[in-house]
Amino acid sequence: MAGLSALSNTITRPEPPQDAPVLPRVELDGRLIAVSNRVARPSGTTSPGGLAQALGEALKARGGTWVGWSGQLVASREAVELDLEMDDDVVYALLDLFDADFQGYYEGYANGVLWPIFHGRPDLSVHDAADFEAYKAINRAFAEAVARMAGPEDTIWVHDYQLLMLGEMLREAGVSTTIGLFLHIPFPYNDVFRTIPEAEEIARALVKFDTIGVQTTRDARNLAECLAGMGEGTVHRRGKAFEAHVFGEHVRVVPLPIGIDVAGIQRLLRVPPSSDVVDFSRGLAGRRSLIGVDRLDYSKGLPQKLQAFHQFLTEDPSRARDVVLTQIAPISRGSVKAYEKTRREVEAIAGCIAGMFTSLTCSPLNFLTRPVERGTIAHLMARSDVALVTPIADGMNLVAKEYVAVQNPRNPGVLVLSEFAGAAEAMTDALLVNPHDTDALSEAIERALSMPLGERRDRHAALMDVVRDTDIARWSEACLAELSAVKA
Ligand code: G6P
Repeated sequence: MAGLSALSNTITRPEPPQDAPVLPRVELDGRLIAVSNRVARPSGTTSPGGLAQALGEALKARGGTWVGWSGQLVASREAVELDLEMDDDVVYALLDLFDADFQGYYEGYANGVLWPIFHGRPDLSVHDAADFEAYKAINRAFAEAVARMAGPEDTIWVHDYQLLMLGEMLREAGVSTTIGLFLHIPFPYNDVFRTIPEAEEIARALVKFDTIGVQTTRDARNLAECLAGMGEGTVHRRGKAFEAHVFGEHVRVVPLPIGIDVAGIQRLLRVPPSSDVVDFSRGLAGRRSLIGVDRLDYSKGLPQKLQAFHQFLTEDPSRARDVVLTQIAPISRGSVKAYEKTRREVEAIAGCIAGMFTSLTCSPLNFLTRPVERGTIAHLMARSDVALVTPIADGMNLVAKEYVAVQNPRNPGVLVLSEFAGAAEAMTDALLVNPHDTDALSEAIERALSMPLGERRDRHAALMDVVRDTDIARWSEACLAELSAVKA
């Protein structure tokens, strides 16, 4: 490998942010009611995850009501309350959930069965029929809350795998207005979906939504074909959409790739960096910086990434003095067994890297499992020569887009991106890799670090076009245009 230490280490200073272009606004007759398990409430202090972050930005931009879990669990169904909070044009309708159902719903079914199977890991699914009952009970609680507030002109926009039964339950509760679902995570192949014992019941519920938005064309095809296949129905392609006719219903499945608030993340760079970031930059002392930001989740390919980094260092141990990988991996869903196992695995490889390659004066790995504030992450990304975004499966992966958005176009860093992230469908100018191929990932790290400035600029410009095209405001307008077309 061409000596890393010979390569330049200029800290990137992003250019002043460009505000997103003004967009034609989709006019809805009634109110917009968004529904999701997790809500980014204005008073909240914890990191809400990608979905709530993105949805929060979309709702703030156009106003509406956001129904979600209050974060409170109550001991009896009768004690369940719906609190209203108002912030600018968004009404937050926060629902308490019944404690006895919550574990089965969240850890048991949503994250113990649906999450692994939708991410292509049926081997990690732990099924218990009682958890499905709990999942339905919580979906019903959401449906009752929404049904009480929805008028005939309103548009209901449900989010993600925690609430797949909501379309059917809202119809049963007499709601007749448009109901859409956006699935933020991938949808698997038919054979994988069918490993869920309740696959048909879920499919019958899904067709009650008018429209289902997904992240990629692959997800749209998988979902439409899977629904049709379960009930001997048919699929018709209409433009980019797939229409499934099955179980006496008709549902449109549309790829609508989600994005980020481009101007918002660039604004974070206008706030001076924290002293930690300043010290970090100083501490680099000529070393190149690589960054990874992922929830500690088996779908994020953290063992694969660290294994490849280990190989990269093993091939030439002098690299340990030239580079530092900062991997931020906040612990997530820590009480679900498969997550505990992944955490142990990741910690073991991180420990191995630290043990083998840390010297008395420097370490090639910063591994953090605590959450890091968004502004700090934005500054760290802006100062990193390479981002490693290497999930083994991922709905979209907004970190890939955030990294591109905070680069200085005159001296941008390089995005190494898994071909299994939804983002890879459009972000083809990243260095695309198969994270299971340790050699290829290690080589991609080397190639990213030695990429000439001209190529970095060209790739960044093309990636930035994709990031702007799918800006969060554009994404939400595109979704709402789909929903309003149902009424038309
Ligand atoms: C992903 C899912 C979201 C979820 C988020 C955080 O982005 O698509 O639905 O809210 O992870 O996970 P958590 O289990 O903490 O809500």
